[in-house]
Amino acid sequence: MGSIILITGTPGVGKTTVSTLLAQRLNARIIDINKLVEEKHLYTGIDEVRKYKIVDLDALFNEIDKKIDEISNEFIIIEGHLSHLFEKSSIVIVLRANPDVLKQRMKIKGWEENKIRENIEAEAIDICSYEAYEIHGNRVNEIDTSSIKPEEVVDLIIDVINGNKKFPVGKVDFLEYLK
Ligand SMILES: Nc1ncnc2c1ncn2[C@@H]1O[C@H](COP(=O)(O)OP(=O)(O)OP(=O)(O)O)[C@@H](O)[C@H]1O
Ligand SMILES: [Mg+2]
Repeated sequence: MGSIILITGTPGVGKTTVSTLLAQRLNARIIDINKLVEEKHLYTGIDEVRKYKIVDLDALFNEIDKKIDEISNEFIIIEGHLSHLFEKSSIVIVLRANPDVLKQRMKIKGWEENKIRENIEAEAIDICSYEAYEIHGNRVNEIDTSSIKPEEVVDLIIDVINGNKKFPVGKVDFLEYLK
């Protein structure tokens, strides 16, 4: 099995953008969780109030396992805001963006105001890193993308993969944005 790189983070932070560029650099295969959930109907229902799909995690992990078995590339990138819940990993990257920047990125993507607020809060309290750390411990790295380009984020991830840099959880702190 190849190295498994999980790319996670709050919705809209830049996972798909960064993963696409990273895959080109590493000649990696991408498993796009959002796409997989759609294609294989891996949800048990839809939360009508908050407008998101309730993903069947066991079914999702099964599908990911099947995909991994079919891939012979050295690197496999699994991307999506649930990717860190998958237990197998070589490296986990949590992409971060400060709430002002995240708001802008989500506006450009056409997100609704209340979804934007919900995601900004999730980002400020750092849910993804916390959950990722519980499962993957010090394999988790947090990268603040707020003031750098996607290509620069990719460079940093490659540094982490090569063992040249580490970005342990806990350095990025956006709590002040909640005040
Ligand atoms: N440094 C950066 N890293 C990543 N994306 C960036 C960066 N700077 C700006 N962007 C922009 O932010 C947007 C991120 O959108 P993208 O679809 O990649 O996010 P996502 O995390 O995959 O969202 P979702 O959770 O909805 O799938 C893109 O328009 C991208 O060009
Ligand atoms: Mg995406």
